[in-house]
Amino acid sequence: MTPTFFHIAIDGPVAAGKGTVSRLVSQRLNFLYIDTGAMYRMAAYLAHTNNVSYEDETKIVELIEGSHMDMRNPTEEERDGRLTTVFLNGEDVSWKIRTEEISQGSSKVAVLPEVRRVLVEKQQIIAKGKNVIMEGRDITYRVLPNAQLKIYLTAKTKERAERRLLQLQQKGFDLTLEKVMSDIEQRDQRDMSRLADPLKKIPEAWEVDTSKLSIEEVVEKIVAEVEKIRSSKS
Ligand code: C5P
Repeated sequence: MTPTFFHIAIDGPVAAGKGTVSRLVSQRLNFLYIDTGAMYRMAAYLAHTNNVSYEDETKIVELIEGSHMDMRNPTEEERDGRLTTVFLNGEDVSWKIRTEEISQGSSKVAVLPEVRRVLVEKQQIIAKGKNVIMEGRDITYRVLPNAQLKIYLTAKTKERAERRLLQLQQKGFDLTLEKVMSDIEQRDQRDMSRLADPLKKIPEAWEVDTSKLSIEEVVEKIVAEVEKIRSSKS
């Protein structure tokens, strides 16, 4: 029997717009939005706050397994620009996991195969039997290989750096475009060159370049595609 739920899988480099677009599509379609990057960020945060090296696979896996990770749509009071409210052991860490330290740390812990294994398992459990839009780096081919719609969302590096700089400035972080650009390039390089499930565009993924599109245009394109797929199957 064909499943009645719909999975949208999105992969792409840093600051391609995956989070913003996924949140808006999830609202339009009434799907659950899952930001898998937040889970790698929580893993890095756990390592950092427990003085564990980002390379210590065994300890990081232990820390993840001993913790409770939870994510939900921001409530009215929580609408401060965040896309998701993230709880780690009951503490709201939504902003604490967005610092540059944790951004770099997250891509370091993400190279560890066992860390990926435990997080992928959690992600698959969350998505089971639900309509979801999930974004990350390995969703189209590892986490949700049977997703009905697979997207590779990308944009030119300079464009992505400018967007990320604006976001960070709005949050009060004082950074230059050069610094943001070099951080993005370092993180993408680590994500694309790791052995365990690197970021890549799989042949069947639909590539959407957001460099010259507004957020609304990207959202419209994706919603239209979901509707097309749904109507062709009904
Ligand atoms: O998406 P975001 O930038 O928040 O992700 C933080 C880091 O987590 C990425 O740089 C990447 O190293 C890692 N990640 C991953 N696989 C995912 C999601 C994120 O390796 N599915």
